[in-house]
Amino acid sequence: MTLSARITGSGSYLPAKVLTNKDLEGIVDTTEDWIYSRSGIRQRHIAAEGEFTSDLALAASREALRSAGRAPSDVDLIVVATTTADQVFPSTACLLQQRLGIHGCPAFDVQAVCAGFLYALDVVYRYVATGASRCALVVGAETFSRILNWEDRTTCVLFGDGAGAMVIEASESPGILSSHIHADGAFKDLLCVPVGVSTAYQEVLDGRAYTEMQGKEVFRWAVSTLGDAVIEILDANGIEKGEIDWLVPHQANIRIIKAIAKRLDLSMDQVVVTIDKHGNTSAASVPLAFDTAVRDGRIRSGDQVIFEAFGGGFTWGSMLVKI
Ligand code: UT7
Repeated sequence: MTLSARITGSGSYLPAKVLTNKDLEGIVDTTEDWIYSRSGIRQRHIAAEGEFTSDLALAASREALRSAGRAPSDVDLIVVATTTADQVFPSTACLLQQRLGIHGCPAFDVQAVCAGFLYALDVVYRYVATGASRCALVVGAETFSRILNWEDRTTCVLFGDGAGAMVIEASESPGILSSHIHADGAFKDLLCVPVGVSTAYQEVLDGRAYTEMQGKEVFRWAVSTLGDAVIEILDANGIEKGEIDWLVPHQANIRIIKAIAKRLDLSMDQVVVTIDKHGNTSAASVPLAFDTAVRDGRIRSGDQVIFEAFGGGFTWGSMLVKI
């Protein structure tokens, strides 16, 4: 691969409705304090009735294109990471393509749950770095609230809805420096929605396709696996911990985020934390956090940034990017 793939624009979108921990006290047997102290979450956004993943993806994409100074007609590849596609098919990427008025370029979805955005960005990185794409749109978008059991306090308090997008362009100067994605299906039962259209069509039709999680086990594996993943990326690039400016982590639990920051000897001032406001937005969490820190001026051109994420599968990954 000779070309570099640079992030030339980013955007994000959150549905208007905010659900606070206090609100959840009226829905399940929980407390404001339990949720915040165990996860770091204070509130999350919830999509309105009739608001779908493609709506969130469209708003984030328009903002990303605007910030890159690109028109939809410049885009030659669309990849959407989502666990909560609008329809079984066509893909959410095709629905997004239609709404952006783009015709002919490849458009497809990637499904790797909370690591989905890193998977999608990994694919886009390889397309751009080999010259197969010059201007790609990559999106993480979720209406995760639709696959939550609102009677299960161990899961429904943790997740939220949202979308984040990036424009990735071919460049002579460095952008994405390396990308490492992994999966191990041996852990398929620890975090899952155990039904789908092939196994239990009626449950899906009835809206009973719910997220199930062995929280403690997932927590333990997330800390050890992500800790190894961030060291893997330093070693692969021959760089020291002190050369990292920012960590943009998947936002699943503030205690996991702090553990990974510690593995990198980073102070929490160098970690982008949005979990308090967004909750866990699955595939949207990394691009939402990135866009937040770009827009408020923390992440700047020239900074060296690590992205990491971990999710159902298990799937996980890390990426080193020069902004
Ligand atoms: O994005 C994909 C990756 N996802 C993750 O990485 C999530 C990983 N897991 C976690 O973040 C944490 O395990 C949780 C936040 C899910 C849970 O925190 P924990 O410290 O592991 O708590 P726990 O599951 O051990 O539960 C402690 C207690 C239990 O009661 P007992 O058995 O000790 O009496 C739970 O029943 O807290 C109880 N509990 C709750 N209490 C109030 C569980 N959920 C709630 C709740 N409100 N919402």
